[in-house]
Amino acid sequence: MAFARLSSIVAIALAATQVANAGLTKRVTCSTGQTTANAKCCALFPVVDFIQQNLFDGGECGEEAHSALRLSFHDAIGFSIHGGKGGGADGSILAFNQTETAFHANGGIDDITDRQFTVWQQTDLSAGDFVHLAAAIGTGNCPGAPRLQFMFGRPAPVAAAPDLTVPEPTDSVTSILARFADAGFSAAEAVALLSSHSVAAADVVDPTIPGTPFDSTAGTFDTQVFLEVLLKGTAFPGNGSQPGEVLSPLAGEMRLQSDFLISQDARTACLWQAMINDQNRMMTQFKAAMAKLQTLGQKGLTDCSDVVPVPAPFAGPIKFPASFSQADVQIACHTARFPTIQTVAGPAPTVAPVPGS
Ligand code: HEM
Ligand SMILES: *[C@@H]1O[C@H](CO)[C@@H](O)[C@H](O)[C@H]1NC(C)=O
Ligand SMILES: *[C@@H]1O[C@H](CO)[C@@H](O)[C@H](O)[C@H]1NC(C)=O
Repeated sequence: MAFARLSSIVAIALAATQVANAGLTKRVTCSTGQTTANAKCCALFPVVDFIQQNLFDGGECGEEAHSALRLSFHDAIGFSIHGGKGGGADGSILAFNQTETAFHANGGIDDITDRQFTVWQQTDLSAGDFVHLAAAIGTGNCPGAPRLQFMFGRPAPVAAAPDLTVPEPTDSVTSILARFADAGFSAAEAVALLSSHSVAAADVVDPTIPGTPFDSTAGTFDTQVFLEVLLKGTAFPGNGSQPGEVLSPLAGEMRLQSDFLISQDARTACLWQAMINDQNRMMTQFKAAMAKLQTLGQKGLTDCSDVVPVPAPFAGPIKFPASFSQADVQIACHTARFPTIQTVAGPAPTVAPVPGS
């Protein structure tokens, strides 16, 4: 009955909230003391703490945080604006893990679905809300990351995504951009999403060197990866050349063939270069593209972004790794000036693996 429903809404509002803000946005104070724009979001604050403690070692930007971000991509990209490719950001990768972890492009994903599965089961969240909340929290543990949006209320996924929706590092730029376009993303949005490789390492590209990072600052969400992918490559970090890998400039660092080709391609080279030492551009564009990614195929969600912890800032500027300078940059954008960047003092570094990989 309408009357009963109204009175229960009033009761919930009185129990859980006080109107705490005279500004434009009405805010509610939860029984836990935190404030949010919507009373529905109050239930998430304890879940955020639980995820930080049980998945991210109390709030670190480590291997689990990195792979939570990767998982949100592999889950959500199972989608096409033309239909027939899965439910998008629906958590199917977790709920139907046996199907999706078998896909070739999901190599290494079983580690993180395994870790997340038991934590997820201890919450009341749908698989989709869990995967995408964990990604927002984990990413935010990395200094320099934007505070990602979190939209709440995804229904349980109905089926596994089909195979071949996740791009591979051996794919051509044409095929990668076509796959992103099929999911609704422009080339600029694809490059923005690749900011994620700033907090990333590879376990299975070369299985002899698990945890090999894509840049020298895998614990910081900065534009260093856009710079280092452009440096002349000289060696492979592990057991020679592997499929999807090209020469890297630094010992202990891995360069994906796909990142390199995207940095050099006429359709994307200037988008790539424009990110270098422009922390603000990277944060803004990544945040916008992630907001789209994490709601693919979803509708009617509630904005609970204010449950996501605020990330620590990255002050910058970024620097060339020691011994490198602009002379080592493979410039592929010829319509914009390359930014002026200082060099770290000392001998060329060896990049350490990400622990726990
Ligand atoms: C051109 C498209 C992409 C390709 C070909 C690609 C490929 C890869 C590969 C091969 C790895 C290493 C896997 C391993 O060996 O363990 C990786 C790691 C990663 N990717 Fe991507 N990726 C792409 C786009 C994205 C996007 C759009 C995101 C997120 C928005 C993302 C987030 C990550 C993260 C965070 C990791 C590191 C995971 C960890 O350190 O545990 N990637 N990617
Ligand atoms: C996959 O899902 C099943 C339930 O369908 C669960 O028992 C198992 O632990 C999960 N495994 C991984 C690797 O996530
Ligand atoms: C190293 O690579 C070679 C050839 O690519 C392969 O035969 C060999 O098994 C690899 N070694 C290890 C330890 O994986």
